[in-house]
Amino acid sequence: MALIEVNTEECIKCGICIAACPTRVLVMGEKGPEELSAQNCIACGHCVAICPKMAINNKKTPLVKQIEITEQAPLDKEIAKKFLRSRRSIRCYKDMPVPKDKLLELVEIARFAPTAGNGQDISYIIIKDKELLKRVTEVVTEWMEAEVLKGPKTHWSFPLHIRAYRENGLDNILRNAPHLLLAMAQKNLVRGRENSVFSLAYLELFAPSLGLGSCWAGIVEMCIFAGYAPLLELFNVPKDKVITGAVMVGYPKYKFKRLVDRNPLEVHWL
Ligand SMILES: Cc1cc2nc3c(=O)[nH]c(=O)nc-3n(C[C@H](O)[C@H](O)[C@H](O)COP(=O)(O)O)c2cc1C
Repeated sequence: MALIEVNTEECIKCGICIAACPTRVLVMGEKGPEELSAQNCIACGHCVAICPKMAINNKKTPLVKQIEITEQAPLDKEIAKKFLRSRRSIRCYKDMPVPKDKLLELVEIARFAPTAGNGQDISYIIIKDKELLKRVTEVVTEWMEAEVLKGPKTHWSFPLHIRAYRENGLDNILRNAPHLLLAMAQKNLVRGRENSVFSLAYLELFAPSLGLGSCWAGIVEMCIFAGYAPLLELFNVPKDKVITGAVMVGYPKYKFKRLVDRNPLEVHWL
């Protein structure tokens, strides 16, 4: 099957498509780029998206599905910095569910995050059921309690979370967020976790644009990665998949008024 289609009238043989190809699928022929090994194309779309003449098409990433970039200047530096620094972990949520279409819009952007080899292999579970979320907190707490009983090697925060929940009814695990989003990857995927982290990071950065807030559900992840069956059973994960990341989502109850500082930058130059 021919992968690429070149408009030889338009092609100026500049070779940019060839230079940009991550897997060296293309070589320069007499009339323009030619494919060397179509099976190695990872469908990243770079060859089509970078052509200054719209002269190349690729069956795996058709030109018609690409969006013209009209604004070539990158986001203003100060705006970009503020955008990135404004993302905060939200731990106080309004008692209000997020409509399904908004949750889908949020996850929709997450699929544009990079994946190793452009695998695009991350899928999601979105939990809307309040009772199920309560059950998650309860089951994770039971797991932490069992871990604490095993000895002193457990995470420092477990006794704190257990006490907050059992003695004061405070949910430190899901922070009463109305939703929990789980990323999933194929069971045998080596880069499943990394791909999920990128994907959920995109989601976290985009959330405020939808009026939403999020927070990484790290304790839930620990319990999942420990393979705690009573928790995994709640999620009904397809047999060929594993959960690779967890983030809580909802409408923030409060607004941050200031950007916080971080530790001083440490760089080693070589
Ligand atoms: C891998 C990971 C796991 C985390 N787990 C939790 C968690 O279980 N509960 C929580 O409240 N925050 C969790 N966080 C949020 C961090 O505490 C937070 O990112 C950090 O304090 C910096 O604050 P900021 O996100 O508002 O900038 C987690 C963050 C990461 C990256």
